[in-house]
Amino acid sequence: MSIQSSKTSKSPSRYSVGMFSAGEARCDRWQELAHAAQTLVAQVSSGSSTKETLTAVETLLAPLSVIETFRAYPGEVMISALKDALGRRDYSSFSRITNRIAKAIITGSYRRSASAWKLGEEGESEGNDRLMKDYFNTGDLTKPYFEVLIVSDDPTPEQVRQGRAELRQLRRPEDPFVYEAVTVPSFEEGVIGVVMNADVQAVVIRDNFRFKSQFDAPLLRTYLEQHLSLEPGSLEPKDYGVALARAIGKVRPELDIYLIVDGAAEKVASHLDSKNIRRIFYGLEDLMEIHLALLEGVNQRYDTPYFNNLKNYARRPIGTFHALPVARGKSIFNSHWIRDFGHFYGANIFLAESSATTGGLDSLLEPTGNIRVAQEKAARAFGCGELFFGTNGTSTSNKIAVQALVRPGDIVLVDRNCHKSHHYGLVLCGGQPLYVEAYPLTEYSMYGAVPLRTIKKALLDLKAEGKLDRVRMLLLTNCTFDGHVYDVQRFMEEVLAIKPDIVFLWDEAWYAYSRFSQFHRMRSAMGACEALRERYASAAYRAAYAEFKKKHGKIDPKNPKLLDTHLLPDPDAVKLRVYATTSTHKSLSCFRQGSYIMVNDDCWESTQGPFKEAFFTHTSTSPNLQLIASLDVARRQAELEGYELVGRAIELSLILRREVNKHPLISKYFTIATNAQMVPKEYRDSGFEDFHADGVSWKTIYDAWASDEFVLDPTRVTLLCGSAGFDGTSFKGMLASKFDIQLNKTSRNSVLLQTNINNTRSDIAYLIKVLADISRELDRTLSKDPDEKAAFDARVKSLITDVPDLPNFSRFHDAFRDNPRSKTNEGDMRTPFFLAYDEDNSTHVKLNSKEIDDLVKRGQAVSANFVIPYPPGFPILVPGQVITAETIEFMRKLDVKEIHGYQAALGLKLIKSEKLRGAKKKARK
Ligand SMILES: Cc1ncc(COP(=O)(O)O)c(C=O)c1O
Repeated sequence: MSIQSSKTSKSPSRYSVGMFSAGEARCDRWQELAHAAQTLVAQVSSGSSTKETLTAVETLLAPLSVIETFRAYPGEVMISALKDALGRRDYSSFSRITNRIAKAIITGSYRRSASAWKLGEEGESEGNDRLMKDYFNTGDLTKPYFEVLIVSDDPTPEQVRQGRAELRQLRRPEDPFVYEAVTVPSFEEGVIGVVMNADVQAVVIRDNFRFKSQFDAPLLRTYLEQHLSLEPGSLEPKDYGVALARAIGKVRPELDIYLIVDGAAEKVASHLDSKNIRRIFYGLEDLMEIHLALLEGVNQRYDTPYFNNLKNYARRPIGTFHALPVARGKSIFNSHWIRDFGHFYGANIFLAESSATTGGLDSLLEPTGNIRVAQEKAARAFGCGELFFGTNGTSTSNKIAVQALVRPGDIVLVDRNCHKSHHYGLVLCGGQPLYVEAYPLTEYSMYGAVPLRTIKKALLDLKAEGKLDRVRMLLLTNCTFDGHVYDVQRFMEEVLAIKPDIVFLWDEAWYAYSRFSQFHRMRSAMGACEALRERYASAAYRAAYAEFKKKHGKIDPKNPKLLDTHLLPDPDAVKLRVYATTSTHKSLSCFRQGSYIMVNDDCWESTQGPFKEAFFTHTSTSPNLQLIASLDVARRQAELEGYELVGRAIELSLILRREVNKHPLISKYFTIATNAQMVPKEYRDSGFEDFHADGVSWKTIYDAWASDEFVLDPTRVTLLCGSAGFDGTSFKGMLASKFDIQLNKTSRNSVLLQTNINNTRSDIAYLIKVLADISRELDRTLSKDPDEKAAFDARVKSLITDVPDLPNFSRFHDAFRDNPRSKTNEGDMRTPFFLAYDEDNSTHVKLNSKEIDDLVKRGQAVSANFVIPYPPGFPILVPGQVITAETIEFMRKLDVKEIHGYQAALGLKLIKSEKLRGAKKKARK
């Protein structure tokens, strides 16, 4: 039996739910089995043939029997009873048990109700009832439930059952959680178990188990060989335990792993690779210790120090004599006029408010208590050295990071398409941006990501000009709003080869969940940093570097071949300095504006002072307490169920992609952009095109994610609506007003839908229904009226083909460049920005005027401010930028209403030509 029975790399795509979320697929299969079982019963009672239904039942039951070996529920007893009933042709018992299991799995009731574990009828239930007797009877049913995966070669089912029972007997009323154990007998099944079973929170690995699984798992096998260098022959059985802990750590780093060895526990403890292992036990000498360790491990993730404390604070009777009348809610609940405000939000939000930083509430600006612990926990959970809570959105976190790391005059390589907070951050700190261009996706009026070649070229040019020591930072957005994800590891590696101490600031505003998907993690700032740290510490890398150096010598910036060579940095010179800012609120369960600043910096010692100053500069002295609490809670959820929820969000996006692109009616008008449409061929070494292309499996996708320069995050669903005659803005408006569907980003001919941990199958079903209804209506109208059809075709053509070219960054005016003859294009934005504060220095010129055309021709049209149209949302002009004909043309074609920094009635704001000469000197006075 194959784990991926329906998907081998050669088979055509028959995408069924489950590539990224085994839980969804499991629910679907049980549901289908329950329906088939009911049909059987009906067929028997009506005397019709059961042949076909029986075949369907067997086809469904076979993979389920495999899947369920990795789950504690329903367990072996129930599955055997089910099979027995089928074997006896007792279809009504079969149907009843199937139904019970399906319901328990779909509703999750097995986590909290003893009845889910009961078979129900006399005779059938004995085994399991006995098994469950002391399970729920002794415990509090509201206790969170989890499963423990035991990897051990326990040979007989009886021994497995006994092991489980022994663990159950250790349960005490004061235990904070309740857990069940599931045992698998091999290395491979250990890996499959943590992939398939999201309920697993801890893994206990016992000595002496075999490598190969009893099931055929060809994709897993090649994954282990290719990506983790693990194959049976390459390892000694005595090293299986440590190697398995490492492999599991790659899939789900949040899990607690325990090793039980029969030999020298101390030796294993000092094993170089034992860092993934939480504790090592010598034999089963103290089962109670293991039980307590399991609970404590989960409790450490469950614990939310700030939130807990805030709840305690809300319970206490406290008299407040400080500012903030809403604290404790008396000004609200005693009011004659605003009581409804209190009732709407409930009492707790007011009881949990305070402007005090005493009484255990700690201070965000100078944390020494529970905020500090909460931040340390989050740092561990998100795989970084330090983590800071931001309460003013990633807009502010970006300014903090930029100010902390960039000094006036430093050069920063920055994607022009990045969020405006970075551009403003650079104005504030006086860093000089050197804009690097993302590849354009002109047909959709959006940008992709910045190619590695562009970045290397900019750095090599700077090196050739002797300016490398001024280069401070590379600042990129990962993933972009539209879902372009960098090969972060490769980018950092090659950049470090040219500039070994550069600081990386990855804006991961849209990517807070990345840690909890193995796919996304390898392409995240912190995941890549961790991988590079490991790589540069290895002997294999040193050997590779020595070879590289022998072949290429020192980095010669004039050598054009370097652009096409995978550059390797000197492991002794490299300083890994990686920062990421994430909008926790955008993709995890956190209140709006909650943001994490993640740090993994070899030079943190000397940077923490400036960082603190920057934090003080931008952080409110009145941060919202609920926001801090939600940053704490978001971490708890991410660590305990992030894997499941993120997997489901990915799965939902794949379902949506399939349903739209393969739907005969919907796909006439709407399509979802594929990986190939969003990532041009030259950036896809693997050739990977679409999640639903023929032959695609999770392994194909993984390989593409491991190798391609850019990939598309499937959860960013660009729905192309131009073929339905809608521009992005009006389609967004229609979805909101007519169908209560909200989204935020649009382009000329597309809207961006995102799936996240909040979405359900019903949301997807509703969206698909809406698209089907709109398509049906379009079909109906267009087939009736030829004039309407002609107008529609013209509109579609204009939306799809008549798209303005996206203008590249032109250049900074010479007045704002240190050396106008320099080949590199960095410039000073701060001077023109503040120059424009004095109205005498600027003037407005209408966009549709001859005056602007003449100024442009003479090179004297220089922007006095940022101009940022929404969409696309990047600054098409920055202060000090020379305006070109391309920019004017783009702006004239722009059909969006919201353009920050531009008022049509006034025109473009320019620096007066006569002020450009000597502008610098004047601005500095
Ligand atoms: C790439 C990027 N960075 C930062 C931000 C700002 O994040 P926040 O809304 O948390 O301030 C955004 C907002 O959309 C963004 O798209």
